[in-house]
Amino acid sequence: MSKFEYILSEVDELGINTITINQAKKLNALSRPLLKELDVAVTNAINDENIKSILLTGAGEKAFVAGADISEFKELNGTEAVEMARFGQELFRKIETSPKATIAAVNGFSLGGGCELAMACQMRVASENAKFGQPEVNLGLLPGYGGTQRLVQLVGKGKAMELLMTGDMVGAEDALRLGLVNHVTTQEELINKCKGILKKIGKKAPIAIAKVVACVDAGLDPNQDGYDAEAVAFGECFLTEDFTEGVTAFLEKRKANFKGK
Ligand code: COA
Repeated sequence: MSKFEYILSEVDELGINTITINQAKKLNALSRPLLKELDVAVTNAINDENIKSILLTGAGEKAFVAGADISEFKELNGTEAVEMARFGQELFRKIETSPKATIAAVNGFSLGGGCELAMACQMRVASENAKFGQPEVNLGLLPGYGGTQRLVQLVGKGKAMELLMTGDMVGAEDALRLGLVNHVTTQEELINKCKGILKKIGKKAPIAIAKVVACVDAGLDPNQDGYDAEAVAFGECFLTEDFTEGVTAFLEKRKANFKGK
């Protein structure tokens, strides 16, 4: 169980690290100390060889995360606001580029920084009551944790522009239609659905999984050649023990037992 004040972190027998934003009274708003804890938890998960994947969710039944903690905003000056945005951006990049699969179990409001946190995860599953939006314009702001970038990647420029400029929320079914989430489930089934996906990924070769993440990321980076990254990664996989095991297991008509080597 967890040693944190604002989040919970637990690892199950499959090596799935569930990290729960645990501030239900504030609809799991992301305060700065909370983000620091989340950074520690995510870094631990990436470095701990017993952890295979990361599941992010929010405490309670109402919210995943209702955004950055607005009560902190009045204390900030412009320079501090830039620092805050950069810290969040780096943390969310860590989640996006994690070599271990990351999934958001979106169990309610996913607004502002909450929508950005969900979008930073490699996959998203929403419960039927989930609502997504970037309402920062209502506060005279814009998203600061990558929302103007990842929303465009996920739903396309036109719809992203509308959501970013109107601050409108969309429900789970619309989010599914837009490509903002991979699946919609009942609230009761949400964690199981996410764990089912992570369980499946957990049976694959970890080095190949990490390279999928890196190559998809390279393809979205204007400074990298995604096709070249893919060809190099493909060749690197040929040198792994898991590749030998995967091919041998196929030819022997048995399930592969991957070791991450
Ligand atoms: N930061 C700080 N506190 C927040 C918060 C946020 N982003 N979102 C919700 N809360 C707090 C509320 O202030 C309230 O606290 P209180 O009980 O001490 O008054 C509590 O969480 C419950 O929220 P409430 O607004 O009463 O619930 P609701 O069901 O009426 O409305 C929302 C839910 C999500 C629509 C509404 O809380 C909201 O608009 N939140 C802000 C969303 C936002 O702008 N996010 C982007 C921030 S950059």
